[in-house]
Amino acid sequence: MRSHWSNRWAFIMATAGSAVGLGNVWKFPYMTGTNGGSAFVLVYLLCVALIGLPLMMTEIMLGRRAQRNPVDGMAYLAAEAGGSRWWQGVGYLGIAAGVLILAFYSVVAGWVLDYGLRAASGSFAGMTGAQAQGAFLDFLADPFELLFWHSAFMFMTMLVVAKGVTSGLERANKIMMPGLIAILLILLGYSLAVGDIDRSLDFMFRPDFSRITPGAVLSAMGHSFFTLSLGMGAVMVYGSYLQRHVSIARAAFYVVLTDTAIALIAGVAIFAIVFANHLEPASGPGLIFQTLPIAFGQMPGGTLFATLFFILLAFAAWTSSISLVEPAVAWLIERHRLGRARAALLVGGLVWLLGIAVLLSFNAWSDITLFGLNFFDQLDKLTTNIMLPLGGLLMALFAVWVMRAAHAQEELALNECNYRRWLFVTRYVAPAAIVLVFLNLIGLLPLV
Ligand code: PHE
Repeated sequence: MRSHWSNRWAFIMATAGSAVGLGNVWKFPYMTGTNGGSAFVLVYLLCVALIGLPLMMTEIMLGRRAQRNPVDGMAYLAAEAGGSRWWQGVGYLGIAAGVLILAFYSVVAGWVLDYGLRAASGSFAGMTGAQAQGAFLDFLADPFELLFWHSAFMFMTMLVVAKGVTSGLERANKIMMPGLIAILLILLGYSLAVGDIDRSLDFMFRPDFSRITPGAVLSAMGHSFFTLSLGMGAVMVYGSYLQRHVSIARAAFYVVLTDTAIALIAGVAIFAIVFANHLEPASGPGLIFQTLPIAFGQMPGGTLFATLFFILLAFAAWTSSISLVEPAVAWLIERHRLGRARAALLVGGLVWLLGIAVLLSFNAWSDITLFGLNFFDQLDKLTTNIMLPLGGLLMALFAVWVMRAAHAQEELALNECNYRRWLFVTRYVAPAAIVLVFLNLIGLLPLV
């Protein structure tokens, strides 16, 4: 007998815990910055609404029907519908994506831990933009420090996964997630008071279509998958621990809403600080580490707020990282009969090693590039822009073309009108959008 969430809130909290993480507070602002602002935000929001929400429902539905890890789950569902066993490849794709994502996710989560300690020591007080930038660059140049924090974060993640004590973490999450939202609102209040909020809103929301490039469209779509944890089986495996009677649509809606709201609040607050301090919005993955210390360093109670902020962000990253390895771990346990601890050690060891290559790509190996991108960028692009949308595309196609309609309907339990909407979007809109964005990128379709 597999274990299940104790109630629907436990499931919603866990799935929101998976969705809300570095993707919202670290990645969304820096991607918005490097992709020119509003056009990226607009495409991202469109993707969240048109692809993200229906696909979140689809993934939960597949997981709950299968009651298995993503590999065996897809094999089981395919067999049930008389489809090919090859569909289990979707599960393998997801496992690989999770491992590769965690390799860089953990390194960045390590930066967050380090910054939590810096914040607590009061080192942000009175920091200028140049000092914040210098401190971050010095930090990146030191592989041993990065290794220490990456290892610490991997240890935290694998400990929770090995013990299967997700319940303890989820209980803590009930306090931590509202806490993160509260601190983000405090940050927003500070930005409203002293930041350049007008330019921030302008940058993020005034449509400027001249900035839409095929690359930006792909990044925005990829990010909508990344931030909602879609396309790799994390949501599917969480859905597989879900009891029968829970409304999938409502759960998916809450998760998508929370995730999007947090990203937008973080973005507006951060760009207000960026513009007020004449910093570069397109400065890349270091954006929040180079801007937030300035803001916290100036505001009253900054040391306390900064420390809390980085602790809460690390916490959000923690609840995401366990969902990144859960598909792999569940597969090793259920298919290969490994104990939970051993499965966690195996997957964690692999991710830890890959993470070392990632952290070296910021210093010792920074010259090793492919198409001008270092290993960190390569992994990020491969997973976010290709593997996740591809996984999501295959899941959507499976749900509407292979699975029996009656089975999907039974799980989703939507009324007739909403069911038709879900079907239309999942059958035509989402697959067409994903395929068009891919074709557009490879230049077969000069749309933008
Ligand atoms: N959604 C998480 C975040 O925004 C990252 C993640 C991606 C988690 C894919 C699971 C699967 O931080």
